[in-house]
Amino acid sequence: MSASQYKPLLPMPAGSLEVPQMAPRLTDNSESYSQALSEQPIYFSLVVPTYNEGRNIQEIIQQLSQLLDQVIPNNYELIVVDDDSPDFTWKLAQALMPEYPQLRVMRRQQERGLCTAVIRGWQAARGEVLGVIDADLQHPPQVLLKLLAEIERGADLAVASRHVEGGGVSDWSLMRRFLSRGAQLLGLILLPEVISRVSDPMTGYFLVRRDVIAGKVMNPLGYKILIEVLGRGKIRWIAEVGYVFQERQEGESKVTWKQYLEYLQHLLRLRFSLWPVERFLRFAIVGLSGVFVDMGVLYLLHDPSTFNLPLTRSKILAAEVAIINNFLWNDRWTFGDVSSQQQGNRQRLKRLLKFNLICLGGLILNVMFLNFLFNILKVNEYLANLIAIGLVTCWNFWINLKLSWRVTEVEKK
Ligand code: GDD
Ligand code: MN
Repeated sequence: MSASQYKPLLPMPAGSLEVPQMAPRLTDNSESYSQALSEQPIYFSLVVPTYNEGRNIQEIIQQLSQLLDQVIPNNYELIVVDDDSPDFTWKLAQALMPEYPQLRVMRRQQERGLCTAVIRGWQAARGEVLGVIDADLQHPPQVLLKLLAEIERGADLAVASRHVEGGGVSDWSLMRRFLSRGAQLLGLILLPEVISRVSDPMTGYFLVRRDVIAGKVMNPLGYKILIEVLGRGKIRWIAEVGYVFQERQEGESKVTWKQYLEYLQHLLRLRFSLWPVERFLRFAIVGLSGVFVDMGVLYLLHDPSTFNLPLTRSKILAAEVAIINNFLWNDRWTFGDVSSQQQGNRQRLKRLLKFNLICLGGLILNVMFLNFLFNILKVNEYLANLIAIGLVTCWNFWINLKLSWRVTEVEKK
């Protein structure tokens, strides 16, 4: 086929990795092609990221087209996003376009990486529902029908999971199973509120409504696009569908140790970008006010010129007054947006009791850290106390965020 007969490739979106609210209108292709494409937005855009999938691309496009032509004919598109594969996958895909009119192809030459390939594909997509599937037939295409059905039922995110009923992996080595589960465990430690929302956060096979990720600047790394979507999207309803991860027939996996390191980097990047910095600063300021209240009440109760009470009793009362001071400020200022959704004295009393218990736990931790730093590591006692207070402030903040002022979990059906 001569080059002129090839349909044009998709222009590569530039700039930040942000999916637009509405489907883009192609303007810089040939008149007839962009004319055809710039018709009404369509329902479903499925991105197929490829690197050296020359021996799979025909089969996957054929299977996906056959399947989707049955359920949503002329209302879907397949977007192959190829990173300039040495085996010319992009060119092989481009040659398929005349036979599959809903196929579009993007050849990336300046960027590389699975996650960014998917997002660039979604940026060029026209669908109100976006999806991703691997090109190597390890993700069974027929599962798409169940995923689409879940989106139809109202799910914001429909995930193909290996770890629910009907899920599984073909004969993975023990090592691969261990690495996959280990990666998931690491994610649960670093990003519990993200990774715990699905049974298979490592999967690269899912559909998501455009509007739950539109406008969110994404900043992924490596292979795990789903954790980026979970971390940044405003996702209420998650549906999971079991699937068996197939054996690859042609080509080989591109997963190396680099992807595992990138996964760790990705988790840390998401952690810090999701860390509620402003809320934490407010919490620390309130904590500082508590120090002054504690000192003032201690002086008032214990000093010979005032009530002259015994030191321990004065300290306990002073600490309790400081805890109540901190609770009142935190409840109104630091977590005001959360507590306003949990009105009523009973709810407030519940929060105060939880806050109190966590702060008392923090006090014990404070003493333990202080002794460890001073007696074992021989750190100066005042510096040790400052470090202990800093560590315990993080502990108090995080546990209170999760327990006392917990945003009621959105329902997961
Ligand atoms: N554009 C682009 N750029 N595509 C890539 C790149 C890249 O750098 N690296 C891999 N791909 C494509 C492959 O061509 C394939 O279509 C898909 O991404 C998955 O790559 P594999 O190398 O086959 O990954 P895997 O099979 O080991 O793991 C896959 O399945 C797991 C379970 O769903 C990945 O999708 C994992 O993220 C996923 O956890
Ligand atoms: Mn694969």
